[in-house]
Amino acid sequence: MTATLETTPDIQVPMLQGTDHVELYVGNARQAAYHYRNAFGFDVIAYAGPETGVRDRASYVLQQGKVRLVLTAPLTPEGEIAEHVWLHGDGVKRIALRVEDATAAYEAATRRGARGIAEPARAVDSRGVITHASIATYGDTVHTFVERDEYQGVHWPGYRDESRAGGGVGLRFIDHAVGNVDVGRMDDWVSFYSEVFGFQVFQEFDEHDIATQYSALRSKVTRDPRTQITFPINEPAVGLKASQIQEYLDYYRGSGVQHIALHTDDIVATVSAMSEHGVEFLNTPDAYYAALGARADGIDEDLDRLRDLKILLDRDDDGYLLQIFTRPVGDRPTLFFEVIQRKGSKGFGKGNFKALFESIEREQAARGNL
Ligand code: FE2
Repeated sequence: MTATLETTPDIQVPMLQGTDHVELYVGNARQAAYHYRNAFGFDVIAYAGPETGVRDRASYVLQQGKVRLVLTAPLTPEGEIAEHVWLHGDGVKRIALRVEDATAAYEAATRRGARGIAEPARAVDSRGVITHASIATYGDTVHTFVERDEYQGVHWPGYRDESRAGGGVGLRFIDHAVGNVDVGRMDDWVSFYSEVFGFQVFQEFDEHDIATQYSALRSKVTRDPRTQITFPINEPAVGLKASQIQEYLDYYRGSGVQHIALHTDDIVATVSAMSEHGVEFLNTPDAYYAALGARADGIDEDLDRLRDLKILLDRDDDGYLLQIFTRPVGDRPTLFFEVIQRKGSKGFGKGNFKALFESIEREQAARGNL
């Protein structure tokens, strides 16, 4: 589709303000909400369903720091939610973007080449108005522009307030959200974010950087220079055996969100709490920590504690970062989460790719997919 994009430099890019929320379509939103509340520490802040006059779905809104997740399940076998869950399993349907003017953002995005999904519309209740509009991105994933300055409610018209605390584990905001796309399509989608939104390529990696014996992928990190909203795009590359990206594409039945990275200021405390609550993280052998050597010099954290929790460390010219990846959150080996703390480094853990991918490969092999 991006091959047919006509660049229209006279039309300003949509002015984004930040990520509004991420909506997952899931088979059972009540149980998913329990998981993200009790294991990830999210508060449940709003709900919509038959009790609020919504007949075809149930949605739970969860919040921690600035991170807002909406978990939506279908109540009938008909319609796009049920079809999405049937085809993809549980996964991210929507990355909603906050804007000052949703109508202008939609017009700018579509005139710059985006495919419209839902034209600007107003959702109204006694607490005000939200104006929203949606465009397509990779696969069945969409971006929804959300203009909520005139809305006083917690989330959205049609939702009632809930106040069930999850306790929090220190998650503060979305650091980045990564898409996996079909082989050969990465550059098209990088162009999409560049032409439609004015994003720039911040970093890139290829199969020579991301080299284990088997896993191979290419990745480009696209970023909004104004808001720092960051959407890396991955595609599979040819390796000795099946790329982990290809495994995702096979099970998700197409392109989609691979992982969402959540920022914390204290990864040791965050990961300790999540582990105690039952979140499963990818394993890292002790040999990784023995091999860190000088990379671990001068860090503020106790290396033994990082090893106990399997937290990975990477260093670049600007500082270091600490990161860890959950196992896939559903049964299909598709969506997972990352927890990341930055101490200066703006990178994505290039030095950890080998350890990370070897860990994924061990799991891929256990699933019989390597
Ligand atoms: Fe990441």
